[in-house]
Amino acid sequence: MNQIKTLINGQFINTKNSLEVYNPANNELLALVPNIDDEAQINDIFKQAHNAYLKYKDSSIEDRVALLEKFASLIESNKEELATIIMNEVAKGYKDSLVEVERSVEYMRATNVEYLKLIKNPTVFDQSIHGVKNKVATYYRLPVGVVLAISPFNYPINLLISKLAPALVAGNSVVYKPSTQGAMIGIKLAELAHQAGYAPGVINCLTTDARKYGDLLVTNQYVKALSFTGGPKVGNRMAQITSKISLVLELGGKDPALVLDDADLELAANEIVKGAFSYSGQRCTAIKRVFVSSKNHDQLLTLINQKVNQLTVGLPKDNPTIVPLINNNTVKYNIDLLEDAKSKGAVWCQELKVDHSHNLLYPMVVDQVNEQMRIAWEEPFGPILPIIVYDHLDQALELINRSEYGLQASVFTSNLDNIEQLALQIESGTININRSSSRGPDILPFFGVKDSGFGIQGIVDAILSMTTIKGVVINK
Ligand code: G3P
Repeated sequence: MNQIKTLINGQFINTKNSLEVYNPANNELLALVPNIDDEAQINDIFKQAHNAYLKYKDSSIEDRVALLEKFASLIESNKEELATIIMNEVAKGYKDSLVEVERSVEYMRATNVEYLKLIKNPTVFDQSIHGVKNKVATYYRLPVGVVLAISPFNYPINLLISKLAPALVAGNSVVYKPSTQGAMIGIKLAELAHQAGYAPGVINCLTTDARKYGDLLVTNQYVKALSFTGGPKVGNRMAQITSKISLVLELGGKDPALVLDDADLELAANEIVKGAFSYSGQRCTAIKRVFVSSKNHDQLLTLINQKVNQLTVGLPKDNPTIVPLINNNTVKYNIDLLEDAKSKGAVWCQELKVDHSHNLLYPMVVDQVNEQMRIAWEEPFGPILPIIVYDHLDQALELINRSEYGLQASVFTSNLDNIEQLALQIESGTININRSSSRGPDILPFFGVKDSGFGIQGIVDAILSMTTIKGVVINK
């Protein structure tokens, strides 16, 4: 069995007990990774990370930028191997896995560029700019200490790198806990970081059972910033039990696509199908409900169904759109949502087709969904798309905003006059006009409201969230 050691304080270590990583495409055990199952050992990891930070923070900015670039280059030169690990570990299509690795390398390089801009342009207050008399106040950006990063399975490299890169370039040390389906790539990243030359303790891959130790991790005294991507239940608990740390939480979504009466329906259908079904809907920014008026309903549904019926379904190595779901529980959960909707009068537009041995759920559009159905509110993280018909725009807006989530939204219309006014009525972090929702390009701020998150990501905002300021005021 492939038993992989993880990197803690500069050493590759093993543990008595292991966590099991399965291949979602065949349910076979892929690897065993360390299960760090000891409170004192966990506390010590943070202490060592803090000690490492005390030295690393004084390294030169040029050295940190160069180290991050070296780390990025190593990822780039190992991209096929990394993409293969992603494909096997989380059943993402090989080509999409490769794109994810390449996006992560770009993310690191852009982080270097933006960090240098921030550092070279400290905020200055003086007479000429703000009328501050007899003082020149300069505010520098500094690291905060130990950053704790906790990442999900669905972008196992990209959502780790988007937390590690800003933390490292700014001079923080990092303890990161990858999702167990995602731990192989997490450890591989640690190997490459070690090879790049990060000093012991600056980067640590803590593979452990988060259900058991989650509270201990996030409340550790040395943790000064926490960046978490995962579910709202866990994220909300983190917000409750932490204090005086920088908190960035990305917690999922139920992104609506609102199709207005004057929309280009062909465009809307293309974007909706892409947004709802890529990576089998396992994205927090996936379109997870469609609102269409009775005027356009039949035509839009026909277009969506035509496209959904053509989606390719299969194993990740063949690069289909619909790939296996992350595990059998997710398949069951999606089927429960479908059955609940059907029992309350929804119409399944495709037959229910499941291949349990590969965790493959075929895509399904569910028509005539109403607010009594769980699928109108819950996040399936699977390839199922509810269609909700509205009579008046106000009714659609009310249902959109009644969701506990507010990550992103899409509005389809051919009339851009006053579109901002409508967009601003939607309670979500970002509203995409005539496009499906998505996090990228990574330079854009990315955030959610309500149960979708707290704090802001995106290249610049992530650096800001992992740094603090120090002012030097020269009195004249
Ligand atoms: O699901 C996590 C999330 O960050 C989505 O990213 O690039 O698919 O919009 P993206």
